Amino acid sequence: MKYSNPLFALPLLLPLISGYHRQRCAFGDSCWPSPEQWASFNSSISGRLIISLPSAAVCHREHYDAQLCQTATSNWTNSFWRTSQPGAYAAIVWELGQDQCFINTTIDAPCGPGLVAHYSVAAQDVTDIQAAVKFADHKDLYLVIKNTGHDHLGRSSGKGAFSIWTHNLKGREWHNAFVPKGSPNGRTGIPAVTLQAGEQWLDVYRDAAEHNVTVVGGQARTVGAAGGWATGGGHSPLAHFYGLGVDNILEVNLVTPLGEYKTLNKYNDPQYFYAVRGGGGSAWGVITSITYKTHPNPSHVQVGFAQFTTTSNSSFRTVLSHAFKALPRITDAGYTGYGAGDSGYLGLIFIQPNGTDETFRSAFAPLYEIANMTNVTGQIGSFDFPTWMDYLNTFLQDPNIATNVMDTSRLLTANVLLNQTEELLDLVQDYPEMGLGFNFIGKVNSAERDNTAVHDIWKHSRALFTMSVDWRDDAPEAEKKRLKLQAVEVSGRFAEIVGPDGGTYINEANP
Ligand SMILES: Cc1cc2nc3c(=O)[nH]c(=O)nc-3n(C[C@H](O)[C@H](O)[C@H](O)COP(=O)(O)OP(=O)(O)OC[C@H]3O[C@@H](n4cnc5c(N)ncnc54)[C@H](O)[C@@H]3O)c2cc1C
Ligand SMILES: *[C@@H]1O[C@H](CO)[C@@H](O)[C@H](O)[C@H]1NC(C)=O
Ligand SMILES: *[C@@H]1O[C@H](CO)[C@@H](O)[C@H](O)[C@H]1NC(C)=O
Ligand SMILES: *[C@@H]1O[C@H](CO)[C@@H](O)[C@H](O)[C@H]1NC(C)=O
Ligand SMILES: *[C@@H]1O[C@H](CO)[C@@H](O)[C@H](O)[C@H]1NC(C)=O
Ligand SMILES: *[C@@H]1O[C@H](CO)[C@@H](O)[C@H](O)[C@H]1NC(C)=O
Ligand SMILES: *[C@@H]1O[C@H](CO)[C@@H](O)[C@H](O)[C@H]1NC(C)=O
Ligand SMILES: *[C@@H]1O[C@H](CO)[C@@H](O)[C@H](O)[C@H]1NC(C)=O
Ligand SMILES: *[C@@H]1O[C@H](CO)[C@@H](O)[C@H](O)[C@H]1NC(C)=O
Ligand SMILES: *[C@@H]1O[C@H](CO)[C@@H](O)[C@H](O)[C@H]1NC(C)=O
Repeated sequence: MKYSNPLFALPLLLPLISGYHRQRCAFGDSCWPSPEQWASFNSSISGRLIISLPSAAVCHREHYDAQLCQTATSNWTNSFWRTSQPGAYAAIVWELGQDQCFINTTIDAPCGPGLVAHYSVAAQDVTDIQAAVKFADHKDLYLVIKNTGHDHLGRSSGKGAFSIWTHNLKGREWHNAFVPKGSPNGRTGIPAVTLQAGEQWLDVYRDAAEHNVTVVGGQARTVGAAGGWATGGGHSPLAHFYGLGVDNILEVNLVTPLGEYKTLNKYNDPQYFYAVRGGGGSAWGVITSITYKTHPNPSHVQVGFAQFTTTSNSSFRTVLSHAFKALPRITDAGYTGYGAGDSGYLGLIFIQPNGTDETFRSAFAPLYEIANMTNVTGQIGSFDFPTWMDYLNTFLQDPNIATNVMDTSRLLTANVLLNQTEELLDLVQDYPEMGLGFNFIGKVNSAERDNTAVHDIWKHSRALFTMSVDWRDDAPEAEKKRLKLQAVEVSGRFAEIVGPDGGTYINEANP
């Protein structure tokens, strides 16, 4: 057989390929629409076009406003305030870019637009979104979708971009028996909730508690419940029992890149439905609402905690080693949770709906052993909350708000945790500046796994392990570059450890 390598044709294709990857129209480009065209677009969407600015702009020069500046200053790290601003981002590195617009500087200090979109559509309904997508398509604009601005990869901002801001699309509809559109006749419905695109987790959780159900959602108060969390996969303390966010999606309504409004579910468009469930960010359109399965309330919620303090680096290494090796057993027993480590300290919390003292003692035996080691001080215990909402009220928080945090991470299988522990520990030891974060998701080998676009490794992994860098807003460029490269190096080391079949959670990956 004569084999023709398609790569031989590459030089001919290159001009086409590079043309295909050209930057779309941004503010300042000659192709950017004229003021008249913007004005006419603005009136077609009932005047909902706004100029978006970095979150500290109200404290500087022509945008200075004493009262708004005072609000911005006092709420700088408040995630509720931050996610309600069209130009504010949780990881402020995706707001500032190379520009300066700091909250702590004088009124006449510089305030560049950074990576914040130039114009945003403050969408109030589906037709605003359709109009914006069509306008962007027609004018070839650099379009971004912004919901809360929590993204850690910078996918919800863009220098000089045109943005669709979904924050104001609020609404929750609870169903006792939801039937996806186009279901075969006679299909009986199941309990579910339809969330509009701007909904955020704390509001959903409070309402779910009123309706006597639980929803698989993030360990966060202000992360979007029907935006990037969902398209990336969506992990949750309940995911071990009920699957990832994507596994709970029954139906998605979205505006396609051509501006059509579509309903996607497993009956009417299984391939599109597959892609949007894990395809990541805004790759497959602008979601306007998502319907998730709901679940019964647990009879109680058991919380297990462990914290260890060590007096030497070698004993910290031993503690981490035992903790890594204990994870498959603990998560397979139904305990999922979170952990953080820093210079000799390791703190862990685990949750199990309906957990008992018996399951706790057996799953946590390896941690009791750690607490008895030389040079280690440890506390281990458990207690029960009567309801899921009690657990959420106590433990839900939004960490790292208004920081420059940049992650690198991998999903760790039992094989990696048990057989490559030393390589993981070497990595931790080689980068002592980096913060350690653990999401002990547990196995999420849902029956839906192969019907979604999330990475296959979720079937086998027990935990997402994250190492991150951060810097002061005014850190010198060289320092920022050094830390960014450090995160990239660690990502390379992770890739060697987990091998070619490994992977990570797209929403918490290294950008
Ligand atoms: C404090 C904090 C806690 C977190 N906790 C968890 C957790 O417990 N579990 C977990 O899985 N993840 C968690 N994450 C990660 C989170 O899932 C991602 O940051 C995610 O990208 C946030 O989505 P968003 O819609 O809120 O944010 P945005 O930054 O507004 O959007 C993120 C991405 O989704 C796209 N997007 C948003 N809305 C839409 C839409 N309607 N249609 C199409 N595309 C859209 C954006 O364009 C962007 O690409 C956490 C993040 C933070 C900052
Ligand atoms: C869009 O129109 C509204 C209402 O007329 C106006 O308040 C707003 O400033 C306009 N937006 C822009 C960016 O000009
Ligand atoms: C900002 O902070 C103040 C307290 O400093 C609070 O009263 C106010 O509600 C906050 N505003 C927003 C929008 O969150
Ligand atoms: C602003 O300055 C104060 C006082 O120096 C400091 O505590 C605070 O962390 C600074 N905030 C930021 C966002 O840099
Ligand atoms: C939730 O349960 C409470 C207590 O059993 C009951 O009074 C209430 O009507 C229930 N709410 C809904 C929406 O089912
Ligand atoms: C916990 O127990 C309740 C009540 O018995 C039950 O409805 C629920 O499905 C259980 N939850 C889990 C996660 O096992
Ligand atoms: C532990 O390791 C860190 C980083 O390598 C080092 O700076 C520190 O001196 C060590 N501490 C001890 C007690 O050896
Ligand atoms: C305990 O710590 C001391 C110094 O703090 C060190 O000399 C000793 O080797 C440590 N022992 C173990 C078992 O790590
Ligand atoms: C740890 O030490 C305590 C107190 O000495 C003891 O009761 C317990 O059995 C020990 N646990 C293990 C797992 O060794
Ligand atoms: C660890 O490696 C051994 C030897 O290769 C293998 O038999 C075992 O299955 C591995 N453990 C896990 C949990 O994969």
